[in-house]
Amino acid sequence: MVTENIIIHVKNLRKEFETVKRGHGFLAAVNSLFNPKKVKKKALKGISFDIKEGEIVGLLGPNGAGKSTCLKALSGLLWPDSGTVNILGYVPWKERVKYVKNIGVVFGQKTTLFWDLPAIDTYHLNKDLYEMDNKEYEQQVHMLIKKLNAKDIVKSPVRDLSLGERMRCEVIQSLLHKPKLVFLDEPTIGLDIISKEKLREFILDVNKKEKTTFIVTTHDMQDIEKLCKRVIIINHGTIVYDGLLEKIKKKFAKDKHLEVKLSEKAKPFKFKGCKVLNATDYELKLELDTRKAKVKDLIGYLMEHFDVADIIVSDPPIEEIIAEIFQKKGTTL
Ligand SMILES: Nc1ncnc2c1ncn2[C@@H]1O[C@H](COP(=O)(O)OP(=O)(O)OP(=O)(O)O)[C@@H](O)[C@H]1O
Ligand SMILES: [Mg+2]
Repeated sequence: MVTENIIIHVKNLRKEFETVKRGHGFLAAVNSLFNPKKVKKKALKGISFDIKEGEIVGLLGPNGAGKSTCLKALSGLLWPDSGTVNILGYVPWKERVKYVKNIGVVFGQKTTLFWDLPAIDTYHLNKDLYEMDNKEYEQQVHMLIKKLNAKDIVKSPVRDLSLGERMRCEVIQSLLHKPKLVFLDEPTIGLDIISKEKLREFILDVNKKEKTTFIVTTHDMQDIEKLCKRVIIINHGTIVYDGLLEKIKKKFAKDKHLEVKLSEKAKPFKFKGCKVLNATDYELKLELDTRKAKVKDLIGYLMEHFDVADIIVSDPPIEEIIAEIFQKKGTTL
């Protein structure tokens, strides 16, 4: 449940990286040692947003948009160049030791567990770091292991685990100390469909029961559809949309998709605003621009000209809508 309690304030957050650019080959490598050609990359160009307690917010954007940089700054792993961040009353990169007791992190691309140890050993080490008492810790660790079906996998060295198994261990680690806020950077990366679904349900359950706030980055639109009411879309270090997922769907879903099954062979036809996406002998996949024609008129036309067995009308997949927004470089919707 969402309350009006704002726990994350981000204002004008900026971060620029400086890297050395070099050409191909040995000579270029030597040259770059003596004559480094520095290139600046603006990863975050002054982003601002607030997040309330109990929200699950999806952070979306194409590769290199600035999502991970944002989460790193918010979790205190990175000093930004300018801007202010206040989370649960802390400035993350200044009061890290106290601050991390309140947050959990999962960076899907990197492990936060010790590679050579079983995850359960890392959990024990963190118990002291988080100053948890034994009873509270035991209860929490058992509950998480049970819920994520990880009884055996937490006993194997992390390096021996499959990606999906490791992710379950990472999620347990992020929630051990009952944090109020959790940052999940690509938590479902590499998971099979069933594991993804289980993890999503688990996150929803924790959110509902504990009022835990989550910020999630993902390239999987099913994650977003299942988990997030609100999305923040970043492109080239700038926020291009911050609002309800439903709203973008409505605003951008001007096209409708029609799947038409025929009892006779399809013949070529033309209808204003209608594009044939795919056609086989007995099946047509159509896209209709609803600003140019009405769905009911297209259905009427098809019924009149074809022996129609079935028609299914749907919105375009959310992937297509988001991809369209990504292409609107740096504009505000
Ligand atoms: N440590 C670093 N040094 C130099 N450049 C960096 C560093 N970290 C990020 N960048 C650059 O900043 C930009 C934003 O990177 P970031 O990792 O935040 O993207 P992202 O949105 O998480 O992308 P992805 O979807 O691929 O994970 C990229 O151009 C990246 O190359
Ligand atoms: Mg990233």
